[in-house]
Amino acid sequence: MRLLEAGFETVSADGSADMLAMAFENGMKHGDHILRVVQADWRWLNRDVHGEYDAIVCLGNSFTHLFSERDRRKALAEFYAMLKHDGILILDQRNYDAILDRGYSSKHTYYYCGEDVAVEPEYVDEGLCRMRYRFPDDSVYHLNMFPLRKDYTRRLMSEVGFQRIETYGDFQHTYRDEQPDFFVHVAEKEYRMEEEEEGSYGGAVNTARSYYNSPDADAFYSSVWGGEDIHVGIYAHPAEPIADASRRTVERMAAGLGLTERSRVLDLGSGFGGSARYLAGTYGCTVQALNLSEVENERHRQLNAQRGLTDRIEVVDGSFEAVPFADSSVDVVWSQDAFLHSGNRIRVLEEIRRVLKPGGRLVFTDPMAADGTDLKGIRPILDRIHLDDMGSPGFYTRELTRLGFVPTEHEGVAGGFEDLREQLVTHYGRVLEETERQEAEGLAAKVSSDYLTQMKKGLGHWVDGGEQRRLTWGIFRFTLTKG
Ligand SMILES: C[S@@+](CC[C@H](N)C(=O)[O-])C[C@H]1O[C@@H](n2cnc3c(N)ncnc32)[C@H](O)[C@@H]1O
Repeated sequence: MRLLEAGFETVSADGSADMLAMAFENGMKHGDHILRVVQADWRWLNRDVHGEYDAIVCLGNSFTHLFSERDRRKALAEFYAMLKHDGILILDQRNYDAILDRGYSSKHTYYYCGEDVAVEPEYVDEGLCRMRYRFPDDSVYHLNMFPLRKDYTRRLMSEVGFQRIETYGDFQHTYRDEQPDFFVHVAEKEYRMEEEEEGSYGGAVNTARSYYNSPDADAFYSSVWGGEDIHVGIYAHPAEPIADASRRTVERMAAGLGLTERSRVLDLGSGFGGSARYLAGTYGCTVQALNLSEVENERHRQLNAQRGLTDRIEVVDGSFEAVPFADSSVDVVWSQDAFLHSGNRIRVLEEIRRVLKPGGRLVFTDPMAADGTDLKGIRPILDRIHLDDMGSPGFYTRELTRLGFVPTEHEGVAGGFEDLREQLVTHYGRVLEETERQEAEGLAAKVSSDYLTQMKKGLGHWVDGGEQRRLTWGIFRFTLTKG
């Protein structure tokens, strides 16, 4: 009715004849509107509703009623097909991530069913959210819903063809300060050719690229870490040189991968290439080093040439959100402390699955939010890396499992993740000390004082976050199943 009153031509579709009868009656009662109602099932919407639409609107947490992934895909594909070439789909959902990860709470600001109705989940797991509605007359109703995770819904939408999807939290574009009750996804059908996208990386990717290309970052990382590595080290003792501890991380990740001269390794976010040189030099394997920063890549190529490794390491400019390699083409995907910079980590994991050969290995590290951490507590860190969120062990494990990976057994570490949080604390503490030491010895001649001030503040936040167990870090080892 609201859309009609605003001047839109609308068709109201629902699977329930009773619901449609009530809607029709409502239309007549409130303003003599004759609603065009159609009884239709989303899964074969085209059969009963005809024509092409500028917008398809699916609100009221309706999509959550589909329990099979096949049905969800089919329904979204029907929506996509019925839109005009530049049409939009607007679909909302309850914030099930918050319910699953943090327990239920509601601000009761939007979408609740009246002052006196108590709504809460009676049972929740990854496959079912059973909500209980208690009314003032003590009557109780239940609804079983599928707990759609936000990024999962976005992924399904992109898989049926929507390229640009904006997700609002309680109607706000940025919602990181408060966990919203509801998300609204706005997906555009307009098709963009790959050439149109080239050269224009997305928001978070651009931010990371400008940062790592800046003279300050280049001078800082090459001086303080020693010019080879930019990742968390594994320390035998807290005073150990950063370079030695950083090398230990690489050795530990490489152990058990079974690399040979025939292996093809893809390093995502390869920095100055310390790990690529170690792997190619130690095992004789071939490494493709994909990295966003052209400034780092130039330094990387020079170091490879100095070590005589140019024929074994190919340095490629590009983003791991769109890996420029063929499907099923690499034996091992490797990455260290780079995925935190992505604004779309699910996309990165999908790219990894695509390029890995069946049975291929994935080993990576990433600084993350500890499972169950309230993002408010790590806000200063998120602000520093200009992101809304971070990965977490639970997030990576869940998404990798969904994509067909299984944990790789390694020295008794179960579940594919070796938690080494204490190394994060030691490492950032050591980098802070080293920054202060080098500052006293003239680092300020190479790196701006502004940058150093911000960096020291940031390093302090990492140490605090690790000590308070809000942040963590460790090694993931997964294998892509053959099926
Ligand atoms: C902390 S450094 C780690 C570098 C390297 N892995 C190492 O351990 O020395 C993070 C790296 O991620 C790269 N990076 C960030 N976003 C990227 C993206 N979307 N695609 C490719 N590389 C990216 C940056 O250029 C940077 O070199």
